[in-house]
Amino acid sequence: MNILEIIAKKRDGLELSEEEIKFFVQGYTKGEITDYQASALIMAIYIKGMTKKETTSLSLAMSESGDILDLSRFGQNVVDKHSTGGVGDKVSIILLPIIASLGIPVAKMSGRGLGHTGGTIDKLESIPGYKTDISIEEFIQNVETIGISLIGQTMNLAPADKKIYALRDAISCVDSIPLIASSIMSKKIASGANKLVLDVTVGHGAFMKNLNDAQKLAEEMIEIGKLAKLETVCVLTNMNEPLGHAVGNTIEVIEAIKFLRGEMPKDLLDVVLELGSQMIRLAGKGENIEENKQKMFENIKNGKAYNKLLELVKNQNGDISYIENVEKFEKAKYIVPVYAQKEGYIYEINAENIGKLACKLGAGRIKKEDNIDKTVGIEICKKVAEYVKTGEVLAYIHLNKEDEIQSSVDELLNIIKISEQKPETEKTILQTIK
Ligand code: URA
Repeated sequence: MNILEIIAKKRDGLELSEEEIKFFVQGYTKGEITDYQASALIMAIYIKGMTKKETTSLSLAMSESGDILDLSRFGQNVVDKHSTGGVGDKVSIILLPIIASLGIPVAKMSGRGLGHTGGTIDKLESIPGYKTDISIEEFIQNVETIGISLIGQTMNLAPADKKIYALRDAISCVDSIPLIASSIMSKKIASGANKLVLDVTVGHGAFMKNLNDAQKLAEEMIEIGKLAKLETVCVLTNMNEPLGHAVGNTIEVIEAIKFLRGEMPKDLLDVVLELGSQMIRLAGKGENIEENKQKMFENIKNGKAYNKLLELVKNQNGDISYIENVEKFEKAKYIVPVYAQKEGYIYEINAENIGKLACKLGAGRIKKEDNIDKTVGIEICKKVAEYVKTGEVLAYIHLNKEDEIQSSVDELLNIIKISEQKPETEKTILQTIK
């Protein structure tokens, strides 16, 4: 077999065999296939697409490129959760303590932010002391003792995905259904769970800009899951405007803490409850979705979920005094209010543009090796369809560079669109596909 023939075959729109896909994945992981050859093949896949059979072969080959975690000691219904990426998405930090507080084991490896989307691990590292890079033995031990552990990808899980993802990012090939489906499913198969709930985001701030593409992505992932014995449910959620109010790192963690203390923005609550109720069902702890939501709600109200967050943070070396008193978190030097220039309805807050602005302030990475500034971000006070009067505060920008204040305010005023016309109310949960 020869990589040049494989590239030419895909370039000409032909279907690759399982062996050819394996040959590419193994060769690229070992460094025997060069970046420029892999770039050519990935670009050909981006343009010509893949059949479902090819996407499945790619997912399985990538999942077998490194270690596979064994979580079978936690039973036959170990549930994992993943999101296809969003802006203001602090769902894991809220949802997973709720799930663990219901006695369902949570062993979760999360990612870092890249591009305009944020990552759970960067957010958790805003908590002083919180260790995201503990050993696998400690990770398992934590799940055994307190029922939850949330870490970064310390193991050599799906290394082929790491290489291919970085390459895709560098050659503008991220938003492709077969490439996203195989990237996510390879990591999830290697992570050792046997049930999976996926938050498939749709809209301006998501990789899938419309419902039709999101449905296709969801169906592909469900099918890959079936073949890999990883039962998968996809919840399609709206990502036109950012989720909740905060976009950044520290400020998102604070929003998550406040949520578990009962301050729950409606869109965030809807997503948390929908994903969680499906997780509970897949864990075999309740068939009735509405009852599952009720159980989750009870554990927020009675403080059990908040206490589980405290336990999680403490167990991973984090300083819980910050959770107990969020005023302790280091703040950005400037917290600048942005005022409405006219009265009317908030018509649009484009999540991608908010994500890009937050990134520019330093909350995210433009390149993989960039350092991030935990303190910066955007706190949105008004959501789409709310009415505002001239001079009301629309948002606060948290930033550290004085010379960026004016341009950031101008940019934010352009992003938050106000109109005399009330926009149609959009649903947060668009569809659940099993
Ligand atoms: N998240 C992933 O893990 N991979 C993608 O390709 C897109 C989102």
